[in-house]
Amino acid sequence: MKISGLIGDPVEHSVSPILFKELSELCHIEYSHVKIRIPKENGRALNRAISAMRGLNFVGFNVTLPYKIEIMKYLDEIDQSARSVGAVNTVVNKDGRLIGYNTDEYGAISTIEQNFGKIRTSDNVVIFGAGGASRAVLSGLQKSTKNITVFNRSKRRLEILQKDFSSSELILDCFSLSELEQHLDRLLDADLIINTTSVGMHPDDGGSIIPSHILSKIMLANNSKGKKFFDVVFNPVDTEFLKQSRKISGAKAVGGLQMMIYQGIKAFELWTGKKVPDFNIHKMEIKLERAING
Ligand code: ATR
Repeated sequence: MKISGLIGDPVEHSVSPILFKELSELCHIEYSHVKIRIPKENGRALNRAISAMRGLNFVGFNVTLPYKIEIMKYLDEIDQSARSVGAVNTVVNKDGRLIGYNTDEYGAISTIEQNFGKIRTSDNVVIFGAGGASRAVLSGLQKSTKNITVFNRSKRRLEILQKDFSSSELILDCFSLSELEQHLDRLLDADLIINTTSVGMHPDDGGSIIPSHILSKIMLANNSKGKKFFDVVFNPVDTEFLKQSRKISGAKAVGGLQMMIYQGIKAFELWTGKKVPDFNIHKMEIKLERAING
């Protein structure tokens, strides 16, 4: 039997064991996926858990909030996929040697392209957040578009992000979230607006990173038609950010459940060495949505 894990805090809400059960059935593998909460208030818990993982016969583990960046210092090797993002969400255990990968970038870009089509060089993108998920989205999008604006609550993370992703080809403008109103034109001109923050995530379901008075201004703008919205949050499936953006005439909005599935497929393939055969992603989404909604 192959065993993988999910580490983070919190992990209770995760429906990934259902996803991996389905994938293992598709691949005819005996498989189990366990959720392990590493308490964030215990500063040494992550290091200890990783040491334990090395000795156990886990094929690997997924890493979630708040450890996607911190975990990098404890691993033996960082694959290029994680180096370019600067965050690890998948670890492969190769005979006790732990190798960090990033499959979030693949998950995010697959979701964007499947739902909105290919991103064009001329597209303007606004990203909210400067954490691990933001870095994955940014790393993927910078290969297509050259005009990206990031808003984040803390300046510190924003500065690190700007430094890490600066390149001659990319026009990356970074602003504090408190300056959103001053830079409203960025939202008005955006073709694609992405939330990578945890605002609106269960149990704080009601929040949206875009305040309602700013959303009203987007609604009134005459170029709002055809705007695309993507929320990486998948619990709740229908976040406030998505609900609000759908009020904009002609807008298209997609949540994070598909990204979670795509990143999981990639992680599963890394752990098992098996190629997951084609399957109906919408059926999988419905199954996971039912589990999320209890
Ligand atoms: P992940 O790996 O999922 O990206 P993370 O690295 O912890 O998680 O990043 C969470 C993001 O959500 C950050 O951009 C964080 O902003 P800060 O850098 O200021 O912490 C953002 N975030 C979390 N709670 C927020 C809130 N209440 N308002 C605005 N942004 C918030």
